[in-house]
Amino acid sequence: VYYNRKKCIRTVSFRPHCTSNRPAAPLGSRILTNPNDVFKHNMWDHVQWTEEDKENARLKAEENSSIRVPLNEQVKFDKDAGQIWEKFYETHHNKFFKNRKWLFAEFPELLPPAQTRTSHHEHTDIQTPSFPGQHAAFRILEVGCGVGNSLFPILSTIKKTDAFVYCCDFSSNAIELMKAHPDYDASMCHSFVHNICDEEVPFPFPPQSLDVILAVFVLSSIHPERMEGVVNRLSAYLKHGGVFLFRDYGRYDFSQLRFKNGIILHIISTNICTYFVQNLFVNAGLDEIQNLEDKRLQVNRGKKVVMRRVWVQSKFKKR
Ligand SMILES: C[S@@+](CC[C@H](N)C(=O)[O-])C[C@H]1O[C@@H](n2cnc3c(N)ncnc32)[C@H](O)[C@@H]1O
Repeated sequence: VYYNRKKCIRTVSFRPHCTSNRPAAPLGSRILTNPNDVFKHNMWDHVQWTEEDKENARLKAEENSSIRVPLNEQVKFDKDAGQIWEKFYETHHNKFFKNRKWLFAEFPELLPPAQTRTSHHEHTDIQTPSFPGQHAAFRILEVGCGVGNSLFPILSTIKKTDAFVYCCDFSSNAIELMKAHPDYDASMCHSFVHNICDEEVPFPFPPQSLDVILAVFVLSSIHPERMEGVVNRLSAYLKHGGVFLFRDYGRYDFSQLRFKNGIILHIISTNICTYFVQNLFVNAGLDEIQNLEDKRLQVNRGKKVVMRRVWVQSKFKKR
């Protein structure tokens, strides 16, 4: 783990590992074949890195990590993470992240199975449920949900099904913004403030009650030493056969190599690699379905800037 004093960022480096089991519908299909076309679109898919590109990225990452943050600052950064995110949402409200439109294309596991496609208003059981979403046939938990950029696409898709979504974030500002949104529907979801690093506070549903857990750009905010505990604790809430869906900033992503943006500095703690992810989840008792690097070129056509993006996308099933 390398610490960078100026950038206040940690990066974890491991031997590269990646399964090549790309989904049938690939992550994207806009391929750059002629470099002169690069400014014709905002994003290019399946970008190949040459050995030189990899070496340059490695050198840049090394340079960025050359100054280590002293231990007391590391502890402070970790301790203040909650406040940093509260301030982030105070400043940016729900304007920073965009709705995750790709969610169902990449994670069809979020779709409730056909037999649960009855209206969730049809329940005849009038007893008060012992936990929210108790009567649902399909339960999803999103951790680090922010202001609902994944929740809202999920809610609009699971309407008229017997599915229920739980979502939590440790920023109360984020949860309040999400609840105030006109698309928020408390009959289909339950949102709550929760720090997933907290070992003591239980979730408002029993162990082995979830079909899906979703973590989108969240684990990268967490200190690497805490990740194992987080994944173990969360996995205990999955049913056998339930899936953990994960997407995050990968090693040598733009966010790791270039930190001009003061926001990014403070919100990304770790850039993650597939080998690290595999160890985390397999050790927590889950089997790999997918674990890959999604490499793209993101283009700012106005500023004529090209950014190499690397996201890790993974799916693991509980044994
Ligand atoms: C990059 S944002 C992603 C938000 C959302 N998942 C999305 O895709 O738009 C990371 C989110 O994780 C939350 N987060 C970070 N650490 C957390 C923790 N320990 N417990 C709960 N939420 C956390 C932050 O407050 C923030 O909302």
